[in-house]
Amino acid sequence: MSVTEQPAPQPGQGPAGDADGDAAAAQLRDRISADSLTTRRDYLRIVATVSGGLAIGGVGVAAGILHRHGDSEHLPEPKKVTDALAPGQSVAFRFPGDEDRALAVRLADGSLVGYSAVCTHLACAVLWREDRGSEGELYCPCHEGVFDARTGEVTAGPPPRPLPRIFLTERADGSVWAIATARSGETAKDALCRQFGDSRPEAARRLGCPGTAGATESRRT
Ligand code: FES
Repeated sequence: MSVTEQPAPQPGQGPAGDADGDAAAAQLRDRISADSLTTRRDYLRIVATVSGGLAIGGVGVAAGILHRHGDSEHLPEPKKVTDALAPGQSVAFRFPGDEDRALAVRLADGSLVGYSAVCTHLACAVLWREDRGSEGELYCPCHEGVFDARTGEVTAGPPPRPLPRIFLTERADGSVWAIATARSGETAKDALCRQFGDSRPEAARRLGCPGTAGATESRRT
């Protein structure tokens, strides 16, 4: 019953009617306080769940329990990222798995770069900010982490490692494809050699991966 539903005092009701009205108003205040408490409790529970999930994700990544970008020893299937990407623009995608958040960016000079969009600090989502720095930057809003757009190196904030690279290629029709991943700080050659493994011996040989005929020949010449 709301205040507006309280029965109006009847003529002659006098002090007794006032007492009833006061009691109803007191009940109403109690109910509103109880509702506020419930809402506040729910809010705190939601906040705790979200921040708890975030912390567990970050600790899991740090402890190596959850998998990280580039952990696979096998070359992933190439995946189309977008039909086209203009300078200064970025596009979010998933690679190599459907759960792996990633970002592709076309820098102002036309270079294509790709990174895991999972911050190396506590696994928040990394965003592209075109209007920052000399050529844009990758930014994590959780604790103000900043990564260099061209290299993925940490330039500010608490992230302990660079963003893992995702190797992109552009086809003649302008479409952008993701083809491989690297671990944080791993060179492109080491990453590709690791993932080519036995499945692409010709490509591994051309890259001069250790243990391939090409690597032996290139050492001889
Ligand atoms: S999670 Fe990115 S800076 Fe902390």
